[in-house]
Amino acid sequence: MTSLLIGCGNLGTIILKGFISSKKEILVLENDNRIISSMTRIFKNVRFFKMLEKIDWEKISYIMLCVKPKDAINTLREIKKYCDKTHIIVSFVAGLQTKTISKIVLSKSPVIRIMPNIFVDSNNSSTAFFSNKISESLKKKVTKDFRSFGECIWLKNEKKMDFFTAMFGGGPAYFFYILDCFDQIIRKNGVSGDDSLSLLITLLEGTLIKLKSRNVDFKKSIKNVASKGGTTEEALKVFDKNSALFNLFNTAINSAKQKSSQISKQLK
Ligand SMILES: NC(=O)c1ccc[n+]([C@@H]2O[C@H](COP(=O)([O-])OP(=O)(O)OC[C@H]3O[C@@H](n4cnc5c(N)ncnc54)[C@H](OP(=O)(O)O)[C@@H]3O)[C@@H](O)[C@H]2O)c1
Repeated sequence: MTSLLIGCGNLGTIILKGFISSKKEILVLENDNRIISSMTRIFKNVRFFKMLEKIDWEKISYIMLCVKPKDAINTLREIKKYCDKTHIIVSFVAGLQTKTISKIVLSKSPVIRIMPNIFVDSNNSSTAFFSNKISESLKKKVTKDFRSFGECIWLKNEKKMDFFTAMFGGGPAYFFYILDCFDQIIRKNGVSGDDSLSLLITLLEGTLIKLKSRNVDFKKSIKNVASKGGTTEEALKVFDKNSALFNLFNTAINSAKQKSSQISKQLK
């Protein structure tokens, strides 16, 4: 089984590494000459292509579309004549609907949307899958073939992809944003950069251990730290005032969700 990855940018490179480390055969189609030359040096056993006609399409099982939304429609139009029902089309493109893909490609190929995040590289992506019409056995196969991505969930309704794109596709950036805020505060209070990083890692590791025990009650855990009349309570009052922090996160995720929905409409 050989897969074809179209687009080897930020996400594509991570997916490529995952395929290589799980010893799956993969070919790459990429536009950018600089990417091709640097990747050929790193991944010596992978074949990179620029021309569609040089690819042996009969050998391909998964066609993985990993280009920016603005390039997705043209890319699909370009590959259309090579696609047949033996191919399984997997799209990582934010906002691009499965029915739009089927409409362009015009083959009877199963179309699957996958929304991972960059933590695919450590097998820790919280990933959403959607397909309109695939058999249970194909669903099982896809789940197995992409198991290395991390935690996966099959959605029943494609509309939910907008939320998963906003929440989990972008999720790593939000955590890094929050950590950057804490890091700046720690440094402002006279702690060196290296120490700040070590302390933050330990703080996160402790939180993760608690989370992984699976019997964590968020409200109770907050109370365990914030004793009445204590210091943490003062910080929490600021977060909580008129649900300020919750509202900020909620508005931010909704805004990303709307953007995903807007991209879907533009890509119809
Ligand atoms: N980055 C993330 O964390 C993340 C998470 C979830 C989903 N996604 C989705 O993944 C997709 C890719 O994102 P990205 O950040 O990896 O984009 P990116 O870094 O821009 O990579 C896309 C690559 O595809 C190439 N390309 C475009 N059209 C092509 C074609 N027809 N044939 C071959 N190569 C082509 C581009 O080359 P040129 O620039 O030269 O055209 C570029 O090198 C997006 O649709 C995004 O919504 C990304």
